[in-house]
Amino acid sequence: MIQVAVLGYGTVGSGVVEVIETNKADINKKAGEELNVKYILDLRDFPGDPYEKKVIHDYQRILDDPEVTVICETMGGLKPAYDFTKQALLAGKSVCTSNKELVASHGPELIQIAKEHCCNYLFEASVGGGIPIIRPLNYSLTAERIDGITGILNGTTNYILTKMDREGADFAEVLKEAQERGYAERNPEADVEGYDACRKIAILSSLMCGKNVRYEDIYTEGITKISSADFKYARQMNQSIKLLAMSRDTQEGFFAMVAPFMISREHPLYSVSDVFNAVYVHGNMLGDSMYYGRGAGKLPTASAVVSDVVDCARHQGKSIMCFWDEENVQVADIADAKRKFFVRVNAGQKEAAIDAFHALAEVNVGIEEEFAFMTQEMSEREFEEKIGKAGGCINRIRLMK
Ligand code: HSE
Repeated sequence: MIQVAVLGYGTVGSGVVEVIETNKADINKKAGEELNVKYILDLRDFPGDPYEKKVIHDYQRILDDPEVTVICETMGGLKPAYDFTKQALLAGKSVCTSNKELVASHGPELIQIAKEHCCNYLFEASVGGGIPIIRPLNYSLTAERIDGITGILNGTTNYILTKMDREGADFAEVLKEAQERGYAERNPEADVEGYDACRKIAILSSLMCGKNVRYEDIYTEGITKISSADFKYARQMNQSIKLLAMSRDTQEGFFAMVAPFMISREHPLYSVSDVFNAVYVHGNMLGDSMYYGRGAGKLPTASAVVSDVVDCARHQGKSIMCFWDEENVQVADIADAKRKFFVRVNAGQKEAAIDAFHALAEVNVGIEEEFAFMTQEMSEREFEEKIGKAGGCINRIRLMK
């Protein structure tokens, strides 16, 4: 029997217990052994909960129990999750986590400790919730040189942008409604400013390179400046606006960024709506492949955590290969990245904009106070110079190639 401890009995932690209970016959068959949740660690008590007797408050009891071989860390945040994870791995207990913040900050160190102690640090649930994406990158696409990943990695912002697109509503209005319906946090900063997607693309980029892509090195822009007018123009251009997290391994260097992009109807990511996530991967032999599903939520995320527990059960005493070294990747300055831009300026700047950008394609949706256009392809640096000459802009949105 595999004895499991769950750290944190919140949304994902209670989901882990529920998944193990609901699907126990299938899971035990696939694991080759019965899984049993022996402890649930939480600061709180849960009177009346069917698992209330398993709830404990002292982590040391889990560390000291030789029967516990797998720990599900569903606490989130860095403290005390980092210390708890490190102590477990040093004791030879595998850890399965949904904690993207911890994986993005300390992934390579924790993976190395796991290797040295013949156990595993697995994190399928940390990116894309229930979507299998870590395992495909680690085990399935092993014959590929992956040179591009583009993801819609945040459900909250995708929900907000989808609503803005469909209903013509403004950002603040949709955010308020999303908060009321529980789709956005009361403090939505990590989602709407792109920080959550940044950590997730840092994890995927690191697996793509086999080295460490520091999330601090990734240029990140959120969706708070996107307005209903931007969507009017996007529709006119047969595009939508999505918060994309992307990385590209090119001859000019390794580029990674998170920002809102205009994306055309023909692109498979165009149809990824509401709270759904998707990851679009380019390999040099396979070409494009896409992984789609529920990127958040109790049971989808818990299902991914439990899939890692099953992997631990199948690899007891062995460390599963994961290429993510501690060496940092040199992330290139996005000033050198080339693309087209959609730009809105005040009507009075029309001549200055034409002088600065020369060949541009006007986009007209009947907003008289504005002049809007699409540029030719140029580097971010060139764009900044030209828009400076034109006197600045109301907004600019990058176009996905
Ligand atoms: N806040 C995240 C999202 C939760 O909206 O996608 C899953 O990481």
